[in-house]
Amino acid sequence: MAPTAFVTGITGQDGSYLAELLLSKGYTVYGLIRRSSTFNTDRIEHLYQDPHAKDYRLRLVYGDMQDGSRLTRLLHEVRPDEIYNLAAQSHVKVSFDTAEQTGDVGALGVTRLLEAMRTACPAARFYQASSSEMYGSVPPPQSEASAFSPRSPYAISKLYGHHLVANYREAYGLFACSGILFNHESPRRGGTFVTRKISRAVASIKAGKQDKLFLGNLDARRDWGFAPEYVEGMWRMLQQPKPDDYVLATGETHSVREFAQRAFARAGLDWQKHVQHDARYLRPTEVDALQGDATKAARTLQWQARTRFDALADLMVDADMYALQHGLREFEVRQRFFP
Ligand code: NAP
Ligand code: GDD
Repeated sequence: MAPTAFVTGITGQDGSYLAELLLSKGYTVYGLIRRSSTFNTDRIEHLYQDPHAKDYRLRLVYGDMQDGSRLTRLLHEVRPDEIYNLAAQSHVKVSFDTAEQTGDVGALGVTRLLEAMRTACPAARFYQASSSEMYGSVPPPQSEASAFSPRSPYAISKLYGHHLVANYREAYGLFACSGILFNHESPRRGGTFVTRKISRAVASIKAGKQDKLFLGNLDARRDWGFAPEYVEGMWRMLQQPKPDDYVLATGETHSVREFAQRAFARAGLDWQKHVQHDARYLRPTEVDALQGDATKAARTLQWQARTRFDALADLMVDADMYALQHGLREFEVRQRFFP
């Protein structure tokens, strides 16, 4: 029988790519969505199916990581084979403003979902979206063996979830894995993360709609990869004979300044003429440098990041310029760029 997956965070960047991947593999996918007064399903609109359709395999269900009884009821009803926990308030800077809610979703949300799984479907396989932010001030390169030194409420919430997954694996024998993913981007990346903020601004400046782009710390270094490749890695973790934790990364590191330089150059623009500093985008505590060592994933999962820094910046700028020129929304650009 075709497997069933339960995906939290399905309306996010990774959730949308993961849903595509799982549907292409024949899965029935249950996606947790939050009730909102406006539509929040743009990224999965192209996957939407009429509930009356014969092959109805993408099933959206209402719920929230802050509502444990609902999660328990859902897992009892769905009894999935695989659970992917991607839901989070995922913006690091915002987490300093909304520390309590970020922790409630990112840390306690994991407890709620693991408890629900333990009672409803203990034989299921569980994926937790851990983050390279957990390394914080630990010098690069960072691997599964590195220490953690988180520097934001977001990173601390993720570390709680990370340790809980390991604890439930040991204490209850659950098949639970954490993917420690380094930054991964795409044309579907939220507009307030730095790469997308830059690629959108480049498109808009090129079109003559704006002139300046305000950024914070240009010296921060990140290991940026391409999101669709990373969701493939998540799936591979759950196909292994034993549960474990894995780093997914490109192994390359670049500064925000370098990303801006490359992105503006792609559109034939000089970044220095348009980028200005604004202290409001600085964080109270910063993660200066991330560079992942994904040797374990390469060896065990046969997973490797393929899209490199220049190609990533180029494809994001191309997608935003194309969308602006043709008046398209993000998901509509998909067919043109990633058929
Ligand atoms: P994203 O685009 O911000 O998506 C986050 C998702 O979580 C959205 O679907 C959001 O729903 C949902 N969500 C937030 N609060 C929720 C709640 N209380 N209950 C239910 N759902 C909730 O994030 P992403 O980039 O796809 O990342 C996916 C996961 O991987 C996140 O946990 C993130 O922290 C982690 N991660 C990301 C990266 C990266 O570079 N992208 C790296 C490491 C780890 P709405 O659409 O309704 O807001
Ligand atoms: N967002 C943003 N906006 N960041 C800026 C800006 C700006 O205007 N200017 C400079 N930066 C710097 C930030 O200070 C940070 O050092 C870097 O750009 C990257 O910021 P983000 O794109 O917001 O991502 P992040 O690295 O903080 O967090 C992302 O990656 C994590 C994995 O390492 C998020 O996706 C997290 O959810 C994820 O866990």
